[in-house]
Amino acid sequence: MKNLLRRPDAALLRDVEKALAAAAGAFPVPPGRRADLPLAVRDLSRLLTRERGDLGRSYWSAPRLFAAYVHYFLPWNLCRLAWLLPGLDLFPAPLPQGELRLLDLGSGPLTLPLALWCARPDLRERPVDIVCADLASRPLEVGREALRSLAGEASPWRARLTRLPLEKVLDRGGFHLLLAGNVLNELRPGRGESREERIGRLLFSMSRALRPGGRVLLLEPGTRLGGRVIVQARGAALEQGFFPLSPCPHAGPCPLPGQSRSPALTAWCHFTAPAPDVPAALLALSRQARLEKESLALSCLLLERIAGNSRAGARAARREAPGEDGRDACPGRNSRSSGGGVVRIISQPIRLPAYPSSARYACCAKGLALVPDAASLPSGSAVRLEWPWPEERDRKTGALLLSLAKSSARKPGSRAP
Ligand SMILES: C[S@@+](CC[C@H](N)C(=O)[O-])C[C@H]1O[C@@H](n2cnc3c(N)ncnc32)[C@H](O)[C@@H]1O
Repeated sequence: MKNLLRRPDAALLRDVEKALAAAAGAFPVPPGRRADLPLAVRDLSRLLTRERGDLGRSYWSAPRLFAAYVHYFLPWNLCRLAWLLPGLDLFPAPLPQGELRLLDLGSGPLTLPLALWCARPDLRERPVDIVCADLASRPLEVGREALRSLAGEASPWRARLTRLPLEKVLDRGGFHLLLAGNVLNELRPGRGESREERIGRLLFSMSRALRPGGRVLLLEPGTRLGGRVIVQARGAALEQGFFPLSPCPHAGPCPLPGQSRSPALTAWCHFTAPAPDVPAALLALSRQARLEKESLALSCLLLERIAGNSRAGARAARREAPGEDGRDACPGRNSRSSGGGVVRIISQPIRLPAYPSSARYACCAKGLALVPDAASLPSGSAVRLEWPWPEERDRKTGALLLSLAKSSARKPGSRAP
């Protein structure tokens, strides 16, 4: 298993800057409106985070909020994706032959296709057909213009725009990859339906739209709501015969569902990266909007549709989840360890009264874990650790206590053994 996040190299940062310029060029802010942009960013931020009930009134229909999305939210999303996409196995190896068929759900101004073009230079000469679906058509048009200007007229990448709700477009099949960025948290449940049921319905449609072995990338903000909808999607996906490839090091129930089992456990599954490479103009706009960020935060899930889509297949795959080795080892009484497995570091360093130094929550085949002295490990690291024996658990959260002492911590970007 690989570390989840990696610092973008210089070439990727240059391409992200080009993508931002292309998006800004496709929806420029007239000089007379520039002074309002920071205020519009604040208004849209409030709408997207705190006043979600008003989302029915689409922000795409107000030009100033549209501009705020293209000049602030799209850029921050691209910066987050630049850390995430290069490390994800979005396609099975070897790459499928011929045209790659992608569907971007809730595509808006094509943020994910733009990010994919930046992060995957190896695909630029391949024919890539991306169906970009959204309820609103204008952001799709702006995104298509941005992608065209970024990739060039001669590019074999084709963005086909579709103004349709998600389930309708999922009636089309045969996709290699489905993308859904920052859209699950906006889904409106049907009458008498819970959000979890709504997401379950979507995952069902997704499983039918994919080729066997096809993959789904779900990306959400690193907020509690973002983490919660990802966990709900994960639960539904396992029922539909998907296998979680990343970031989960196992395919059992999520040990951090974002709904506290214990009052001491307020964490949710999300990852953070420092923000040192963010373009200066974006930092300046963030400052003017008084929405400065010191880090990029996200929740995400990469799923693979198991061939045959059978529940038995899903169960079999769960038994083969990476990081579960040693799970069933039966240690002797004097043994100090019961094998080991891969552990994913999920939280920021936290100070807990019971431990002298900063600890981090982690996820592993044995559930939630707590790793003391782990402040130096980047968020999203994959570390191979030994299971202790006898097991010791944190009294407040029930998390398994693990020690880094016998680890083989990986540098960012390298593979766990
Ligand atoms: C926050 S934007 C995300 C845009 C882009 N994916 C990104 O990450 O920047 C969410 C998008 O989902 C679209 N959307 C919300 N509900 C939808 C639905 N039921 N069907 C299709 N699109 C939907 C909205 O119109 C909006 O463009």
